[in-house]
Amino acid sequence: MVQASAPGKVILLGEHAVVYGRPAIAVPVSQVRATATVEPLPPGSGLTLVALDLGRTARLGEAPLDDPLAAAAYHTLAHLDLAGLDGLVTVRSTIPIAGGMGSGAAVAAAIVRALVAFVGAELSPAEISSLVLEVEKLHHGTPSGIDNTVVVYEQPVYFLRQQPPQTFAVGAPLSLLIADSGIPSSTRQVVGGVRQRWQADPAHYEALFDQIGGLVEQARQAIEAGLVAALGALMDRNHALLQEMGVSTPELDGLVQAARQAGACGAKLSGAGGGGSVVALVQPERAAAVQAALEAVAARVIPTTVV
Ligand code: MEV
Repeated sequence: MVQASAPGKVILLGEHAVVYGRPAIAVPVSQVRATATVEPLPPGSGLTLVALDLGRTARLGEAPLDDPLAAAAYHTLAHLDLAGLDGLVTVRSTIPIAGGMGSGAAVAAAIVRALVAFVGAELSPAEISSLVLEVEKLHHGTPSGIDNTVVVYEQPVYFLRQQPPQTFAVGAPLSLLIADSGIPSSTRQVVGGVRQRWQADPAHYEALFDQIGGLVEQARQAIEAGLVAALGALMDRNHALLQEMGVSTPELDGLVQAARQAGACGAKLSGAGGGGSVVALVQPERAAAVQAALEAVAARVIPTTVV
């Protein structure tokens, strides 16, 4: 039996604008993970995938090509030039589903890695990332590629669409609290809504994307220089632009407010919005108070530190 895993992720700044060619910064959240195991089955059994937390099963050959669970296996086998495989893939995940934390990308990355290990092959991170991107296209329609990149490389990334990911130094540890609103977010729908509004008013949306891109550049400098308070202020400004873009909700705004009132340096929605999560940046001495304030309103709070 083989086992492989991939972490969750949180976007610090730049979601949505990244789909339109602006930069974004994302970090892995290693405390929550998707894990896939593959057990051999007798010849002729075929490949079955069971996702315990999603309550879903897919059998290769029977599941449609666009089934995200099966698609990870279809793309991997095609890439490895394998006609079929006999085995049972079991997927477990502690990443909130539809929570803006990259659960779909992590599940796909875990399946790809486990299958690659099961057949004794080796693929580079770039190859694994591009296989996961193919699966992301089924979830999202027009993914920028940031989710597959950050969960596969498991490092903080500065990301520009269709470019190799850049890593950067973190000048001072970043204490983050990720609060899941408990309201599922459909990335495909929210990204589609932004596209419709962009088509209706391209000048306004391009200006919003440009402003977000500018914040991301400043944020990268603040992170490298260890300027935590400055980074928090940039996250606050990013949230205001996401509100203007129409992707926040009263629940997400409520979580952002709760974090700020309890002393966070900054807070914003993270991921597509329309539900899902917020991310708050805190000084370590305020972490307990902000966590308690978020726990009073969130479905779940996940603390993580970026070093
Ligand atoms: C989703 O995690 C981030 C979005 O920017 C979509 C994407 O980049 O593909 C909303």
